[in-house]
Amino acid sequence: MTQDAFTFLATRQSYPSKALQGPAPDRAALEPILRAALRVPDHGNLQPWRLVVGYRPALARWADIGEARARELGDDPVRIEKGRGQFDRSHCAVVVIAAPKPADKVPEIEQTLSAGALCAGLVNAASAAGWGAQWLTGWVSHDRPFITRAFGCTPQEWVAGIIHIGTRAAPAPDRPRPDLSQTVIWA
Ligand SMILES: Cc1cc2nc3c(=O)[nH]c(=O)nc-3n(C[C@H](O)[C@H](O)[C@H](O)COP(=O)(O)O)c2cc1C
Repeated sequence: MTQDAFTFLATRQSYPSKALQGPAPDRAALEPILRAALRVPDHGNLQPWRLVVGYRPALARWADIGEARARELGDDPVRIEKGRGQFDRSHCAVVVIAAPKPADKVPEIEQTLSAGALCAGLVNAASAAGWGAQWLTGWVSHDRPFITRAFGCTPQEWVAGIIHIGTRAAPAPDRPRPDLSQTVIWA
């Protein structure tokens, strides 16, 4: 048993993106995190995902696109703020784009699950490397014009998650965790 790895997994938690500070991992620090996260279960080795990494000024551009899209939709100020807020506050965001591939033996749901696992792997790899990380989505992630303009998504692609990575400030309180007795049946 790799005690350190198990202890990490048994105590891991996301770090609230609103409390993340700079610096964020630069490209040299981020590449090993991306490599580790990309060791994700992937039925058929289809690689049904791709990543877009944003630092400033890309983050500022995405914030502007989010605001412009919210205004186009006639949104209220709260939605406008949500459209740009996560990018305005972020120092580094890794966008996980699900890119399903045609495959007879691998249904699309399995490719979707791999994209979700990649998001979780990114949070874990960044956290294990000493950074704080959180998986966000928000309305922008589900808005076709936004993801096309900001991330160049094709009509088949969609955003599985936006993983914000930065420096942890104060310790974040944990949240209640599932109780085995409510969650597990020992068949
Ligand atoms: C698909 C998905 C989307 C999420 N989107 C958001 C979001 O937009 N805003 C938010 O505050 N938390 C969001 N979360 C929750 C956080 O990523 C995270 O689960 C939460 O902060 C608790 O983290 P922990 O259990 O890893 O400590 C999302 C989680 C998932 C799985």
